[in-house]
Amino acid sequence: MPSRGPHLPGRSGVASDRLTAMAEQPRNGKVTVVGAGFYGSTTALRLAEYDIFETVVLTDIVEGKPEGLALDMNQSRPIEGFETEVVGVGGGSYEGTEGSDVVVITAGLPRKPGMSRMDLIETNAKIVRSVAENIARTSPDAVVIVVSNPLDEMTALAQLATDFPKNRVMGQAGMLDTARFTNNVAGELGAAVGSVRTLTLGSHGDTMVPVPSRCTVDGKPLTDVLPADRIEHLVDRTRNGGAEVVALLKTGSAYYAPSAAAARMARAVMEDSGAVMPVCAWVDGEYGISGVYLGVEAEIGREGVRRVVEGDLTESELAGLREAAEAVRAKQADVADL
Ligand code: NAI
Ligand code: 2OP
Repeated sequence: MPSRGPHLPGRSGVASDRLTAMAEQPRNGKVTVVGAGFYGSTTALRLAEYDIFETVVLTDIVEGKPEGLALDMNQSRPIEGFETEVVGVGGGSYEGTEGSDVVVITAGLPRKPGMSRMDLIETNAKIVRSVAENIARTSPDAVVIVVSNPLDEMTALAQLATDFPKNRVMGQAGMLDTARFTNNVAGELGAAVGSVRTLTLGSHGDTMVPVPSRCTVDGKPLTDVLPADRIEHLVDRTRNGGAEVVALLKTGSAYYAPSAAAARMARAVMEDSGAVMPVCAWVDGEYGISGVYLGVEAEIGREGVRRVVEGDLTESELAGLREAAEAVRAKQADVADL
């Protein structure tokens, strides 16, 4: 009689074989997610379910919360069929995070309806600085992925506070904003999301730069498929994508799409995949812009950002990107004092 697995009604012998095969696949490395709130906990679960890491560590300043979430996630392993162990560490401790290959910083307040991301800067800067200093002490070779808001500024601050090479610190925003743009275009056309390609660059804020000239639907330019006023509407909706979710939730901000984006970035690092993704990366001459963390396409590997990938932009898109760079440059200079 085929094994039905431990106490799981309905699991077939085939599924059981698949689970055995998964249990045997190699797992490497450790990823730490700092902040066990909505963003951090969903990111930790996604990373664990990839089943490529040996360990996912979830930490928080609050005692008990990460431990409880980790236990709950581990209990889902026999059902979902993954072996990665999730370890919860509360009370602001970094014990158990030592030597992480990747660290995702989600610690910080989310915004409330009516707040801009920039309203969070003073509070979140204190949190991100202390987290970054602890990471530098405990995981000196890690690649750091920042998600705390305001994103572009917190990424710059994490680099300053860790003193890591700039390629080893990046921020998550462009993957999310691009996914929102794709979802908006697909929804407008009633098309499959898989048939739509979009791109956003610039800041994770008012100077986000959706790039219609790089967008296609079934390989056709978006500008051939939709009139200019509809594209403009979708661009606006994308720029306000975070606020749209915040307004509906009333408390807290989005986390399903954001965690998918951060987890994919961590995976690209761990697998040294060379995937090209829109991320917040240090720009040093590309697009005629230098000395600023900005949303650009970058090739991601074991060393973090391997290189910024400079694509073709229209004149107005390039002007938008340069404007975004100037807007965040001033704020990034200020974070050194926060
Ligand atoms: P949340 O309030 O659910 O969780 C934040 C967690 O951080 C809490 O559990 C809190 O106890 C913890 N924390 C605070 N100080 C800490 C410290 N010093 N060390 C460790 N943990 C600490 O908020 P949520 O929804 O998880 O959002 C987290 C951050 O991510 C916010 O700043 C939010 O604005 C940002 N965000 C960024 C996005 C992006 O695309 N970059 C998208 C969505 C959210
Ligand atoms: C978002 O875009 C609030 O930055 C967060 O959902």
